Amino acid sequence: MDKNKKFYVTTPIYYPSGIPHVGTSYTTIVADVVARFKRLQGYDVMFTTGTDEHGQKIEEKAKKEGKTPKKYVDDIVEKYKSLWSLLNISYDKFIRTTDKPHEEAVKKIFNELYNKGEIYKGTYKGWYCTPCEAFFTDTQLKDGKCPDCGREVNWAEEEAYFFKLSKYGDKLLDYYKKHPRFICPEGRKNEMIQFIKDGLDDLCVSRTSFKWGIPVDFDKNHVVYVWLDALTNYITSQGYGSKDDSNYKKYWPANIHFVGKEIVRFHVIIWPAILMALGLPLPEQVYGHGWILFGDGSRMAKSKGNVIDPVVLSERYGVDALRYFLMREFSFGSDGLFTNEALIKRINFDLANDLGNLLSRSVAMIEKYFGGTLPEEQKLGNIDNELALVAMNVCKKYEELMDKYNFSGALGEVWLLISKCNKYIDETMPWQLGKDEKKRSRLAAVLYNLCEVLRIISVLIYPVMPSTSEKIWQQIGAGKEVRTWDSISKWGELPKNITVKKGEVLFPRIDVEKEIEALNSLYHAKKSEPKNENVVSLIDIEDFAKVSLIVAKIKECEPVKKSKKLLKLLVDDGTGERTVVSGISQYYSPEELVGKSVILVSNLKPAKLCGVESHGMILAATCPDGAVKVIFVDDMAPGSKLS
Ligand code: MSP
Repeated sequence: MDKNKKFYVTTPIYYPSGIPHVGTSYTTIVADVVARFKRLQGYDVMFTTGTDEHGQKIEEKAKKEGKTPKKYVDDIVEKYKSLWSLLNISYDKFIRTTDKPHEEAVKKIFNELYNKGEIYKGTYKGWYCTPCEAFFTDTQLKDGKCPDCGREVNWAEEEAYFFKLSKYGDKLLDYYKKHPRFICPEGRKNEMIQFIKDGLDDLCVSRTSFKWGIPVDFDKNHVVYVWLDALTNYITSQGYGSKDDSNYKKYWPANIHFVGKEIVRFHVIIWPAILMALGLPLPEQVYGHGWILFGDGSRMAKSKGNVIDPVVLSERYGVDALRYFLMREFSFGSDGLFTNEALIKRINFDLANDLGNLLSRSVAMIEKYFGGTLPEEQKLGNIDNELALVAMNVCKKYEELMDKYNFSGALGEVWLLISKCNKYIDETMPWQLGKDEKKRSRLAAVLYNLCEVLRIISVLIYPVMPSTSEKIWQQIGAGKEVRTWDSISKWGELPKNITVKKGEVLFPRIDVEKEIEALNSLYHAKKSEPKNENVVSLIDIEDFAKVSLIVAKIKECEPVKKSKKLLKLLVDDGTGERTVVSGISQYYSPEELVGKSVILVSNLKPAKLCGVESHGMILAATCPDGAVKVIFVDDMAPGSKLS
């Protein structure tokens, strides 16, 4: 293999904040199709995917589920990995931003940019929600209040590090000009140019308001803020910043970053600017694909009864049918609507009728007329050349279209060839030839030609439907040497005396009405399942042991100024006094609490609530009628431990 023939393809790294669905599977299947196609063409391929695991959202989700952020992301990453294995995703490297080598490399990159003066310390300004500990911009606020909890927000400023993105505007525009294929499709490029022309702001690359992130090496109060952490995955996954960076040297720059249209901006502005600042080469191309829209036209909605769980769809129709549908139905750069009806139609028409029938008819006739093995003696006809010519032409067009990431067009070419074959059967009428003993050698040639086209088709569909290709190879008796890309550039590579073997039906036909009904009831059953937030997740005894519960006696109590909900308590925890803030002022007056003993979570990290630092939390119960009652334990001495 030519050592320089390398190809590096990436997917975005996914937020493990929910389970993957058909939408997130889309980018990954696309990248897999390209990786498989390039391997077929003889490239040394590096295909990466992974997860983007840091940030406040993940920290909060984990908290909601009563897990540590690491445990939370570990559990979801397992789900991603098992879905990718089900969908036959042939990635070479799965990068997690919590991988130690990545974390270390990001620290180094941050240091380097700081030392070069590309990162500086400044002030981050915005609307701050104290209980949520989060900043929001003007546009993010909902009716002037926190978009997450609906509470009042205050204008606040926080120390933060900034990357000098603003100085890269002209350099980026110049780069786009010199590399016209850097941003694809073309329409997205114009959007980006306009965005830059409107003026770039420096980019905030650190935060102090949450902890779940990579600490800034020289200023431990700060964690690296998401995009610098996320984008660098494309080089750290290859060992950049580690001792062994041989893969980085071999594969970087990437040939193609596949991303959804909403994150093109980060990939064609922030990412190249970071690389320029580091003095590293830029990726060859960023392709921003469209969204798959569901039911009501939104990106994520599971409405209108569409089942969009890739596991359910793969179980019902097979992984290859789902992969085919996603690659064929949607025009890659544009948005498209996902419906179960369209999926079933594609399966019935393209896969069961056209492809499946062609294979089963051809194999059945060879078994019927020749006992499964074709004779060497075959008589060519004029019409055969035409078929061979169409096949060779389709191979060429397919390659061109695949190289332009026009998957739907490339598959369209293959289906032209399939219909050409079905026409060839109508024209040659093998069932008539079979009636005449003298026409045996002509019949053998016709059936051979069908198998030869099926061989070519099976190689062409391999990147999209690898398991189906395997099944076809088994049935038409195609050996390894005739399954290669090179082998389909020549007609007649399949040995003349092949032996076929009937196998299972590739794609059983689906009764559309019954199936839609079944999917609808499945959808409604799923919808009425209890929602996640009502499910209490199970924990291990070790998890529980991490919580320190002790009895504490309330010595003093007063309302927190400027707060309608908070009380400030001074408690005796058996070893000394500490301040605890509790949101119970609507339910208790300070007088009702002083002198009472309560249960205290004593090892909670200190947190500031409305300017008062709280060192723990007292336990209270929310009753079914909505009342909140503090748990009093007056007969126990302060410092008593609960277990
Ligand atoms: N973590 C960032 C990416 C960082 S890359 C350095 C992120 N993650 S994401 O999980 O929100 O989205 C990942 C990808 O999934 C995006 O490219 C997004 O466009 C894609 N999709 C999510 N839903 C989709 C559809 N419904 N349709 C098509 N793609 C979809 O952004």
